[in-house]
Amino acid sequence: PLRLDIKRKLTARSDRVKSVDLHPTEPWMVASLYSGSVVVWNHENQVTIRGSSNDVCVCVCLCVFLVCVFLSDDMTIKLWDWDRKWTCSQVFEGHTHYVMQVVFNPKDNNQFASGSLDRTIKVWQLGSKAPNFTLEGHEKGVNCIDYYSGGDKPYLISGADDRLVKIWDYQNKTCVQTLEGHAQNVTCVHFHPDLPIILTGSEDGTVRVWHSSTYRLENTLNYGMERSWCVTGQRGSNSVALGYDEGSIIIKMGREEPAISMDASGKIMWARHSEVQQANLKAMGDAEVSDGERLSLAVKDMGSCEIYPQMLQHSPNGRFVVVCGDGEYIIYTAMALRNKSFGPAHEFVWAHDSSEYAIRESNNLIRIFKNFKEKKNFKPDFGAEGIYGGFLLGVRSVSGLAFFDWDSAELVHRIEIQPKHIVWSDSGELLCIATEESFFVLRYLAEKASAALESRQGLTEDGVEDAFEVLGEIQEVVKTGTWVGDCFIYTNSVNRLNYYVGGEIVTVAHLDRMMYLLGYIPKDNRLYLGDKDLTVISYSLLVSVLEYQTAVMRRDFSMADRVLPAIPKEQRIRVAHFLEKQGFRQQALAVSTDPEHRFELALQLGEMTIAHQLATEAESEQKWKQLAELATAKSQFGLAQECLHHAQDFGGLLLLATASGNSDMVGKLAKGAEEKGLTNVAFLTFFLQGKSVFE
Ligand SMILES: *[C@@H]1O[C@H](CO)[C@@H](O)[C@H](O)[C@H]1NC(C)=O
Ligand SMILES: *[C@@H]1O[C@H](CO)[C@@H](O)[C@H](O)[C@H]1NC(C)=O
Ligand SMILES: *[C@@H]1O[C@H](CO)[C@@H](O)[C@H](O)[C@H]1NC(C)=O
Ligand SMILES: *[C@@H]1O[C@H](CO)[C@@H](O)[C@H](O)[C@H]1NC(C)=O
Repeated sequence: PLRLDIKRKLTARSDRVKSVDLHPTEPWMVASLYSGSVVVWNHENQVTIRGSSNDVCVCVCLCVFLVCVFLSDDMTIKLWDWDRKWTCSQVFEGHTHYVMQVVFNPKDNNQFASGSLDRTIKVWQLGSKAPNFTLEGHEKGVNCIDYYSGGDKPYLISGADDRLVKIWDYQNKTCVQTLEGHAQNVTCVHFHPDLPIILTGSEDGTVRVWHSSTYRLENTLNYGMERSWCVTGQRGSNSVALGYDEGSIIIKMGREEPAISMDASGKIMWARHSEVQQANLKAMGDAEVSDGERLSLAVKDMGSCEIYPQMLQHSPNGRFVVVCGDGEYIIYTAMALRNKSFGPAHEFVWAHDSSEYAIRESNNLIRIFKNFKEKKNFKPDFGAEGIYGGFLLGVRSVSGLAFFDWDSAELVHRIEIQPKHIVWSDSGELLCIATEESFFVLRYLAEKASAALESRQGLTEDGVEDAFEVLGEIQEVVKTGTWVGDCFIYTNSVNRLNYYVGGEIVTVAHLDRMMYLLGYIPKDNRLYLGDKDLTVISYSLLVSVLEYQTAVMRRDFSMADRVLPAIPKEQRIRVAHFLEKQGFRQQALAVSTDPEHRFELALQLGEMTIAHQLATEAESEQKWKQLAELATAKSQFGLAQECLHHAQDFGGLLLLATASGNSDMVGKLAKGAEEKGLTNVAFLTFFLQGKSVFE
């Protein structure tokens, strides 16, 4: 079975719905009603946008989808030409009863098909009055037809009052399959443009979901809205709109995430329906790439899978690729897509080492494989609702998350958390556990854990007590993530591309839609992301900066010093602020190229020489004052005096001179102050020296 999750997203009550459509870019559903009015709903915030009839804009939108408008409820078909001011340019004759629906062939815009109450389907060619051929087989009137838009199959589908749905091969003109199940007239049929399903609606009030290759009935949907009249899916989306006697519904079908994966060398593989395609970033050569711009990739067909992949994933070393879907998995060689192993599985995960993997066969059985042979199977105490790959095998159940050792299948540690994603760093030292609300960054103490498992000391019913150390929790919802060194790069629920390092979040970009991280290629200094339309974009992120930050987190300053020259000058300020926040002010002072930041750091560190030099270069009274304060605090009165002179701070100088009882200084000060016209200070200095101001 396909095991498509189906969730209801929107219910909009109205009079009887004639047709529904989803806007290609906006979150809008448009429904035209039998009463003649048109209603538009926003399915994100569930608000009615327009409810009036004769809404020109909406009508035009609808017509654009149809390209031309046909006249049905008549025995002839008339073609009205959009470009020629809606003149009727052609009449097609042949049906002997009402024509119920007309659709263009998406693979050939000169061909269209019609379904009629005369029980036939006719296929026509523009330019020819008579039909090319007629498909006969239904025993009652044909209400609805649709073309198959994906892949290789020359198929048409029809639904009729005989309660049957028929699939036709329009090349050899035969009925390939008949779908039985509806208890009343079939009113609408739809080949989903992306998912391997056929949707059919009926006056029996149900919408049925059939597998488009096996023709198995996957699901029967009944939302209690009386007779079903129309159903529409959308390319690049898992939303499907349904129209009934009592209103419209939007449902979400299947996984939101596309089946797409990139290996470490930049080969990207994805599945469209069950066709697997590959694109190689290297093949782009030295083409100039800008941030956020769609990459023009040369796509190569790899062949097709025997299942519909809901997930596709490279092995960590890139040699294999696994697809999982329809309750099965198949491991292929990544080079030639030759199958290597397969079997039943709800879920499949790779270990960090490409020779091992695990499958979840049911809600309480897990099998671990090594070199394509089953090594162990086990039933976790609290069941298995989800599994996670990486350095340890993660198993989610109602009681939380349990980590198991790949070799022994022994419990390493149990955490009370319901994870969505778990992402391990390459070193296996750090991991991110993302939940519905936030994400945690943890350190895995591998040596401690294996020592405890070996000696059986410090083991509790939750495994090794201190196997993990929590480094931080961030209140952001991670959608996809990857580690580069000790930096965790991720996309979040508000479409921001960020990275986390040492408790800090750096924003790389604001994305305009949901994107999935494919990976990072250090050689390119770029991050790659894909969306559900399989568009690939990239953003620049310097590997030197990530390496430097990683070295700092590991306290490896000799490594940091080696990386530093590779960091461009304009990036050093950012790096210096990072160092400062991590408590490495001395290093920050050495790295920063920003005089303001350096001066501040020099003051904090008591680096008088550097601060003096910076104050001299800046010729800033403010800096001299700050330095004077510090010098005074450090009892470096000579320096303080110089600074106060530069700062022209006579008040300060006076204080300094009198406090230190330096009459010589008081004398100089008196003159300076008098010249500057600072009578207050001048008066005081003369007074202190016992001189009359008026002498
Ligand atoms: C349909 O008819 C047109 C015109 O007679 C012809 O050119 C075309 O090849 C026919 N197509 C098929 C699929 O029979
Ligand atoms: C027509 O083609 C379909 C495949 O699309 C095949 O299953 C069927 O046997 C063919 N029928 C005839 C009569 O050639
Ligand atoms: C089904 O179609 C027939 C015509 O073929 C019609 O007479 C009948 O009323 C329809 N059934 C329902 C439930 O509307
Ligand atoms: C794997 O390949 C073998 C031989 O090439 C083939 O017989 C088999 O059907 C394939 N199985 C899957 C699941 O692709």
